[in-house]
Amino acid sequence: MRITYADIDGFRNLSGISFAPDPKYNIIVGPNAQGKTNLLEAMWILSGCKSFRGSKEKDYISLSGDRMSSRIKLRDSVREQKIEFEMTRSSSAPKNIVLNGVKQKGSRALFDVFKCIAFIPDDVDIVKGSPEKRRNFIDMAASQLNPIFVVHLNKHNAIMNQRNALLKDIAQGNSPATVLEIWDRQAAREGTMISYMRNDYVSKINEICGRLYKTISGGSEELTLEYRSNVFRPEDLERPADHVSEEQYYQKLRDTTDYDIRTGSTHSGVNRDEIVIKINGVSAKDFGSQGQVKSAALVMKLAQAEIFMKRSKDAPVVFLDDVMGELDENRQRFVLDMIKDMQVFLTTPNESALLPEIKGRLLYMNGGRITDEKGDIPSCGE
Ligand SMILES: Nc1ncnc2c1ncn2[C@@H]1O[C@H](COP(=O)(O)OP(=O)(O)OP(=O)(O)O)[C@@H](O)[C@H]1O
Ligand SMILES: [Mg+2]
Repeated sequence: MRITYADIDGFRNLSGISFAPDPKYNIIVGPNAQGKTNLLEAMWILSGCKSFRGSKEKDYISLSGDRMSSRIKLRDSVREQKIEFEMTRSSSAPKNIVLNGVKQKGSRALFDVFKCIAFIPDDVDIVKGSPEKRRNFIDMAASQLNPIFVVHLNKHNAIMNQRNALLKDIAQGNSPATVLEIWDRQAAREGTMISYMRNDYVSKINEICGRLYKTISGGSEELTLEYRSNVFRPEDLERPADHVSEEQYYQKLRDTTDYDIRTGSTHSGVNRDEIVIKINGVSAKDFGSQGQVKSAALVMKLAQAEIFMKRSKDAPVVFLDDVMGELDENRQRFVLDMIKDMQVFLTTPNESALLPEIKGRLLYMNGGRITDEKGDIPSCGE
């Protein structure tokens, strides 16, 4: 799929942006703090995902204004669709999401429409950061393939919020401990689904990562990913999920209940899962060099794109924020080869750091506006 038109105004420091992107490469150039990443982010949020910077929605609105809008036209193998996202500071109707002229209840409907993958410098946190970063990566990637996964994740989150609130009530003597049982049954049902889906995605991505990492490291290193469920052993996950699995999950929750009540939080279940990333058999988080960590994160994102491509006839749109210039020529070529059929938006403060074959539409970002080389605002009708 590809974006054929974008129109953004009042999103962070961006104003009056309207352009028809190149079907292949769009190179957003400019000094620091001009709005290059903001432009990627303004398009990214139309995929229904949260900001890739982890920022709050209210921060999307320009500090000097009270409304923002981001609109794109998107062409896939079937048709052209229009997505609009508007927000105002007013508390009554702060957010307005419109798909093909029809107002949507929330951003979930967009999930199925606009598929994109972002590569950002913070991706190294998938390898280096807390287990939550790895779980989030797997959850988001798996959700892109199967949006039902989001439903299970949301249900599980809601159950956990309730459970954790109840734990505090119980500790204060305001509720009997028996009220937990009903929530634990529900948590076991959702948690079992999530465990199986995570296991399935990790084993898929592990295979591809192994192959890609071998290539990127010149055949000398091996990258592996292992799903460590907090509840199930690998052999448990080999048989289909059933009521026995749910019972196992439920018992695990019950085992830590006393401790949970004392501490006011839940200590077992999918929120304690880990995805172990190893290079040549040792933990990349603890022993990886900077280059290894960067390459591992890059390969995981590329593997995500490859899995996606296999499942869908429409390639995702790729956002590369400040990553190409950071890579040596071989690695840049490797990435280019992987994303050769996709529309790409990339940012760089320095276009000369890019390989010469990256040619396309140049967009100069200056104080939140796009200008052409001469500093004029280019004309780009719909
Ligand atoms: N809500 C907001 N309202 C107005 N300006 C904002 C808002 N949020 C961020 N900014 C401004 O946006 C600018 C940063 O934009 P962005 O992160 O896109 O820069 P960049 O061009 O990607 O820079 P770099 O090369 O350093 O990554 C800063 O000047 C910041 O003050
Ligand atoms: Mg930036």
